[in-house]
Amino acid sequence: MTGGAANWIDLTGRVAHVTGGARGIGAGICRALAMAGATVMVSDMDADGARATADAIGGHAMGLDVTDRNAVDRAMHATREQLGGLDILVNNAGVYIGYGGPVREITDAMWRTLWSVNVDGVFYCCRAAAAIMIDQGRGGRIINVSSTQAVSPGVGVTYDGSKAAVAQMTKALALELAPHGINVNALAPGPTWVRDGEPPKTGGQPPNRTGDPLADTVADRIARLPLGHWADPIEQGKAVVFLASSMSDFVTGIYLPVDGGWLTL
Ligand SMILES: NC(=O)c1ccc[n+]([C@@H]2O[C@H](COP(=O)([O-])OP(=O)(O)OC[C@H]3O[C@@H](n4cnc5c(N)ncnc54)[C@H](O)[C@@H]3O)[C@@H](O)[C@H]2O)c1
Repeated sequence: MTGGAANWIDLTGRVAHVTGGARGIGAGICRALAMAGATVMVSDMDADGARATADAIGGHAMGLDVTDRNAVDRAMHATREQLGGLDILVNNAGVYIGYGGPVREITDAMWRTLWSVNVDGVFYCCRAAAAIMIDQGRGGRIINVSSTQAVSPGVGVTYDGSKAAVAQMTKALALELAPHGINVNALAPGPTWVRDGEPPKTGGQPPNRTGDPLADTVADRIARLPLGHWADPIEQGKAVVFLASSMSDFVTGIYLPVDGGWLTL
C-alpha cells in the first residue's frame, strides 16, 4: 500500500520513547513503532536488554528505572535533546510476577514496590513528557499500558488495582492535555505470550477448579478465549501504532482492550 491510507500510519519523523522495552510487550511495541517509521528510544532498567532491542530495530537505548523521578526527568530531556523531540511516550514498564496471592499474604513491601513501578512510574513519565510536549507546541501522544485486569480481576488486589489506577489517570490526563493537542489513551492487553516460542493456542476443556477464585477465573477465561490463542507482543505493538498515528487523531481518553475477546466473557 502506498500513499493514501498508508500515510495515516506513517510515523516517519516522530520520536517515541518506550519504557520497559527490553523484552516482552515493550519490545513488540518498539518493533512495531520502528516498522511504522518512528525513531525509537528504548528504555529499561535492564540497560543491556534495552540495547539489544534497539540494535534489532535500528533504534536508540538508555537505562532507566521509572521509579526514580529525577532519572525520568533526565531521560525525557535526553530523548528530546538526542533525537530532536519527543512526540510519543509509551508507558509500558510494569511488574506483576510475584505480587499476587491472597490479600492476607501481601506485604507492605510487595504493595509499595509494585505501585512504585506501575503507578508512580507512569505518573513520573507522564509528567515529564507532558511538560516537554507542551513546550514543543506540536502536540503528542501518550499511551499507558494498563491491562484487562483493570476491569476483570486476575492477578490480585495489588496489580489489578494499579492497572485500574492507570486507566483512570489516562482519562484525567486526556481531558487536561487535550487543549495542547496531546492525546492520551490506555492499551489494555489480554494474555500476551512474553516467553520464548510461539504464542500457545488456548481452548479445550475448562480446567479443574482449584478453589482460588482469581486463579480459577483466569484459567476459565483463557480456556474460553474467543480468538483462541495468546497474543504475540507484536499484536499489542500494532494497536500502539494505531494510538500513536494519525489513524487515531480523534481518539483520546479511551481504554482499548487488545485481548482476543477476554472482556466479552
Ligand atoms: N504479558 C501479559 O499478558 C500482560 C497483560 C496485560 C498487561 N501487561 C502489561 O504489559 C506491560 C509489559 O508486560 P510484559 O508481560 O511484557 O512484562 P515483562 O516482565 O516481560 O517485561 C517488563 C519489562 O519492564 C521492565 N521493568 C520492570 N520494572 C522496571 C522499572 N522500574 N523501570 C524500568 N523498566 C522496568 C523489565 O526489565 C522488563 O524488561 C506491563 O505493564 C504489564 O503489566 C502484560
